[in-house]
Amino acid sequence: MNKLERVPSQAAPDFASFVDYEQGLVDRRIFSDEAIYQTELERIFARAWNFMCHESQIKEPGDFFQNRIGDDRVVITRDKKGDVQVLLNSCRHRGNVICRAEQGRAKSFMCPYHGWNYGLDGKLVGVPGMKEFYRNDLNKDEWGLGKAAKVESYNGFVFATMDPDAPPLEEYLGDVGKVGLDIAARDGNIEVVNGVQKNRIGCNWKMAVDNLFDWYHPTVSHASAQRSGFFPQFEESLSHMDQMVMIGEYGHAIAGPLVKPENETTATPAQNRYGIQQLKAHPNIFPNLWITLQGDQLSLRLPNGPFETEIWWFTIFQKGIPEEERRLRLSMASHVFGPGGLLEQDDGENWAHSTRGTKGVASRRYPLHYAMGKGHDQMVGTPEGHMRAETVVNEHGQLWTYKSWAEWMDAESWADLKANHSPAPAGRI
Ligand code: FES
Ligand SMILES: [Fe+2]
Repeated sequence: MNKLERVPSQAAPDFASFVDYEQGLVDRRIFSDEAIYQTELERIFARAWNFMCHESQIKEPGDFFQNRIGDDRVVITRDKKGDVQVLLNSCRHRGNVICRAEQGRAKSFMCPYHGWNYGLDGKLVGVPGMKEFYRNDLNKDEWGLGKAAKVESYNGFVFATMDPDAPPLEEYLGDVGKVGLDIAARDGNIEVVNGVQKNRIGCNWKMAVDNLFDWYHPTVSHASAQRSGFFPQFEESLSHMDQMVMIGEYGHAIAGPLVKPENETTATPAQNRYGIQQLKAHPNIFPNLWITLQGDQLSLRLPNGPFETEIWWFTIFQKGIPEEERRLRLSMASHVFGPGGLLEQDDGENWAHSTRGTKGVASRRYPLHYAMGKGHDQMVGTPEGHMRAETVVNEHGQLWTYKSWAEWMDAESWADLKANHSPAPAGRI
């Protein structure tokens, strides 16, 4: 190992002290402290399994798709052998980006600065002036692109981790992390709509994640959207009194309306496996992948520093649905969330002001309140063999996310996290 390869992280504070799980309190500094943000990049994003793309987006050799892992830009490619590669999008010469397109097809990636050329598998294959300037004194085998430590797919969804000690993807996802992906995968019969909607919101990434479990805010935050008539069944769809919560290891959680199957024949096999007629509740795969609109959309919340988040929207359809339904779903996919989304306009303002509200010296002396329902609910086994609480609107999903966040941040390594993270609660929550 080169001595420059590892820069030691700053001495970490005791992150458990920022989250009081018993009282349901969270210290505001975790949303705006620059040093905490840097530690998140190291201990959460560079360690977790991060969602990259769906396999169908990189079907043929040469297909590529650009994404991020924390602050690292990566290119996901299908190489000549048909293998999926996750390469650091940063030239080994001066660090320039080697791929600027968001997606496409290529034979190789030539750095636009001095022309070093990399194969689809990341190998350095061409160097201008190799003979004349370098005098052949450069071992190309040693100067290929950096790569993700592990790349795995679950149900066609490709994930990557930068940590060689991460457990296998399926172990990481566990029961709760799989629910949303299983339902979105629709037993393999899906297409991913070309193009990803992207926008930036001036908020901390955790505020955006926190909100996906929040079924308390819609009647207030989205009152104007409701009055516009865009959502005729707005009130009923919130199911305030009929909610469910699932909680998984490593921070995965699901919270929101529970729609049990009344008629098993209309639910997909995956829905029946979980005892859910429609996936109205919202799953988050820790740290930042939200599955929504009943599996029609996947949203990534990519951090750009403590005060900005890039929100990405992937749209997925069941293959072969009637054209009219397809158009309706496409319209929903661009008018509910995303840059043109009625609801995300409301949400984004709130997240930005909430983040801003964690900065002030006096304001940050007051912790945020996440105790709604704390101590009042019970995890019980379902007939299908999963644990969930059936209850009213609550903040269990958010509080579990922050408790897990602190465990990730306090852990020195994957071995430490594996040994010391909390198991999913089985009794009262
Ligand atoms: S920075 Fe890429 S070739 Fe020089
Ligand atoms: Fe909202």
